[in-house]
Amino acid sequence: MSENDLKDKHGTTGHSWDGIEELNTPLPRWWLYTFYACIVWGIGYAILFPSIPLLHGATPGLLGFSTRGEFAEKLSAAELANAGVNEQLVAMPLESVAQDTTLNQYATSAGGAVFMTWCAQCHGSGAAGAKGYPNLLDDDWLWGGAIDDIHTTITHGIRNETDPDARYSQMPAFGRDGILEKADISAVVNFVMSLSETPQDPSLVARGAEVFAENCVSCHGAEGKGDRAQGAPNLTDAIWLYGGDYATLHETVTNARFGVMPAWGDRLSEAQIRAVAIYVHQLGGGE
Ligand code: HEC
Ligand code: HEC
Repeated sequence: MSENDLKDKHGTTGHSWDGIEELNTPLPRWWLYTFYACIVWGIGYAILFPSIPLLHGATPGLLGFSTRGEFAEKLSAAELANAGVNEQLVAMPLESVAQDTTLNQYATSAGGAVFMTWCAQCHGSGAAGAKGYPNLLDDDWLWGGAIDDIHTTITHGIRNETDPDARYSQMPAFGRDGILEKADISAVVNFVMSLSETPQDPSLVARGAEVFAENCVSCHGAEGKGDRAQGAPNLTDAIWLYGGDYATLHETVTNARFGVMPAWGDRLSEAQIRAVAIYVHQLGGGE
């Protein structure tokens, strides 16, 4: 159709710029009906679903749908699906789970998920730890690496103020509290370095050994191998929670350390705690 034919058929809007006129062609039918359908759909949606924002949340909608509700439904469906296996996990003695292949697989994968959510921020996503946060992959344990020890540590935590059964001990601050002279601290640090064959000042080691025997063996043991009942680290294995260089050791002996881990007994279900204990136990260093 030529321009003039269109003009005859629909007329113009009356707008004209420099002699160019605007035709009054109607919208294509398909476009118009799609547009009306969108309006109808929009109104329907606004009536059925939460949509119009008000001061304290949106209008609820006739269907009572909410994403939170949908999530809760999915969650309880998943919990229901796992209820049987969780019950089994809680009923079985922890040491026996390893023998039950299906249950063990379930525990390890559920435990891995718990670890990623609740433990990785401190122990690292690969559980390799960081300064002050123990590596859970090795077989060096502060409080014990048997499955029951790990379970207890996770349930009650360490040195926290929320759980009366939390594991607790406190190394004295030998320097800050004036228990040891500066020279003796320096000596005992050199002795501690000699235990793991870290280069040290040999002239101070003999004096350091005396200081150690008098002040440290009650917790770290006569040979410096540590005491799990008190969470006192092994000082001979060159695996350091805080660091094995002179400056860090000096700081540890002067001001002591006080590693805190939260208790999980009141935040996770027994099945979750068992699963993550099994997961940690299997990471490599479990005893
Ligand atoms: C807020 C930080 C934090 C979080 C979160 C945390 N931990 Fe710990 N965890 C620690 C610290 C710190 C220690 C070491 C305490 C000490 O010095 O004795 C520790 C120690 C441990 C130990 C003892 C290691 C040993 O050598 O005996 C285990 C096992 C453990 N955590 C497991 C877990 C698990 C499993 C989770 C998750 C459910 C978790 N932790 C979450 C901070 C944390
Ligand atoms: C009352 C018990 C106790 C006594 C006594 C004690 N310690 Fe400790 N020591 C601990 C505990 C518990 C820890 C772990 C603290 C933590 O995890 O936060 C520790 C940690 C350490 C560490 C850190 C190890 C690492 O892996 O980073 C060093 C080093 C250390 N002690 C040296 C000494 C020396 C040297 C003496 C004696 C002068 C001594 N301790 C006396 C309980 C004790």
